[in-house]
Amino acid sequence: MTRIALITGITGQDGSYLAEYLLGLGYQVHGVVRRSSTFSTERIDHLYREPQAESRLRLHYGDLTDGQSLTNLVLKIRPDEIYNLGAQSHVRVSFDQPVYTLQAVGCGALNILEAARLLNESHPVRVYQASSSEMYGDVLQTPQTERTPFNPQSPYACAKVYAFHQTINYRRSYDLFASNGILFNHESERRGETFVTRKITRAAGRIKAGLQEKLYLGNLDAKRDWGYAKDYVKGMHLILQHHQPDDFVLATGRTASVREFCELVFKRLDLNYEDHVEIDPRYYRPAEVDLLLGEPSKAFEELGWQATTSLEELAAIMTDHDHEIAKRELHAANFDQFSG
Ligand code: NAP
Ligand code: GDD
Repeated sequence: MTRIALITGITGQDGSYLAEYLLGLGYQVHGVVRRSSTFSTERIDHLYREPQAESRLRLHYGDLTDGQSLTNLVLKIRPDEIYNLGAQSHVRVSFDQPVYTLQAVGCGALNILEAARLLNESHPVRVYQASSSEMYGDVLQTPQTERTPFNPQSPYACAKVYAFHQTINYRRSYDLFASNGILFNHESERRGETFVTRKITRAAGRIKAGLQEKLYLGNLDAKRDWGYAKDYVKGMHLILQHHQPDDFVLATGRTASVREFCELVFKRLDLNYEDHVEIDPRYYRPAEVDLLLGEPSKAFEELGWQATTSLEELAAIMTDHDHEIAKRELHAANFDQFSG
C-alpha cells in the first residue's frame, strides 16, 4: 500500500526537502499551499518536472489559521502521516506580528491536532510537530536536551512552546501518535534570504561579483547550532517511524557565532569579512537568544539519526551556490547594458 503524507509548509525550505525525500521513498505527498497573488512554489516546481513524482504530488489551497478547511482536507486525504511545518517562522518578524504569529504557529498546530484527532477515530495517523530550539530562549542549561526547561524570548518562541505542549497533550489525552522534533537551526541553499546564513552567503556572492560593497547585519556574537536542512528532514521522517510517539532534539552538537559564519563564507571567496560587514542596529532584536547548542544523543541512540554535514561543508555549499547566482546576475546586468 502506498503511504500517504500531508505536509503543511511544503513551499518552505524544509517542506520542499521533505516532499522530495518522501517522494523518493515512494510516498504519495499532499501539500498545503497558501493562495498568493504570485506563485510561491519555486522550491517545489522541479518536482513536477519528474514524471514519476508528478502523479504522486498534490497541492491543495489552505491556511493553518483556517481550521475547518484543514479538517475537511485531512478527512478527505486520510493521510498516514502529517508533518506540520507551516509557520510564520521569522523570529524578528514575530515581534512586529505577534498575534498573527500565535495564530499561525500556536493555533495552527492546534487546528492540525484537532483534524488528526478526528481522523484517528477511523484511520490511524501520525503527527510531526515542527518544534524549535528557539523555545530554550535565554537558556537555562547548556547543552540543551529534551529535558532542558524552556525560557522563550520571542512571540515566535512562545507560540512554539504552546504548540509543543498541545502536541504532548493530544498524545496523552487522545492516544494520538503525535511527536515533537525540537530542531536546532538548519540551513541550505533553499533557506529564506532574510535568515542570517543565507543573507550572508547571498551578499558575499554579490560582493565577490562586484554587484554590492557592504553587508549590514545585527548581532554578530549570537551563537547557533547550525546544520544542513537535508539531514534534518530525514530525522523528521524517522521520528514518525519510531515505535512510540516521543520528543527528540535534532542538532549537530557544535555551536558557532554569526561572526564565525561570516569568516568562513568570506574566506571561501578570498575576501575578508571585516572589509564588508557593517552593523545596523535595526537588525537587533528586542530580546536576543545568545547561545544555542543541542545535545542530539537521544536521536542517535533511539532513531539512528545524526547530522552528517559539518559547518564548513554547509558554508561551502551555500557560498558556492550563491556565488553562481551572483555570477548569473552579473552576466544578465552586462547583457542588458550591452543590448540596451
Ligand atoms: P520557512 O522556509 O519559513 O517555510 C514556512 C512555510 O510555512 C512556508 O511554506 C509558508 O508558506 C508556510 N506558511 C506560513 N504561514 C502559513 C499559514 N498561515 N498557513 C499555511 N502555511 C503557512 O520555514 P522552514 O525553515 O522550512 O521551517 C519549517 C518549520 O520548522 C517551521 O515551522 C519552523 O518554524 C520550524 N523550524 C525551523 C527551523 C530552521 O532552522 N529552519 C528550526 C526549528 C524549527 P509561504 O511559502 O506561502 O510563505
Ligand atoms: N535574520 C537576521 N538578520 N539575523 C541576524 C542578523 C540579520 O541581519 N544579524 C545578526 N543576526 C542574528 C540574530 O540576531 C540571531 O541571533 C541569529 O543571527 C540567527 O538569526 P536567524 O537566522 O534569523 O535565525 P533564528 O535563530 O532567529 O531563527 C531560526 O532558527 C530557529 C531555531 O532555533 C528560524 O529558522 C526559526 O524559525 C527557528 O525556529
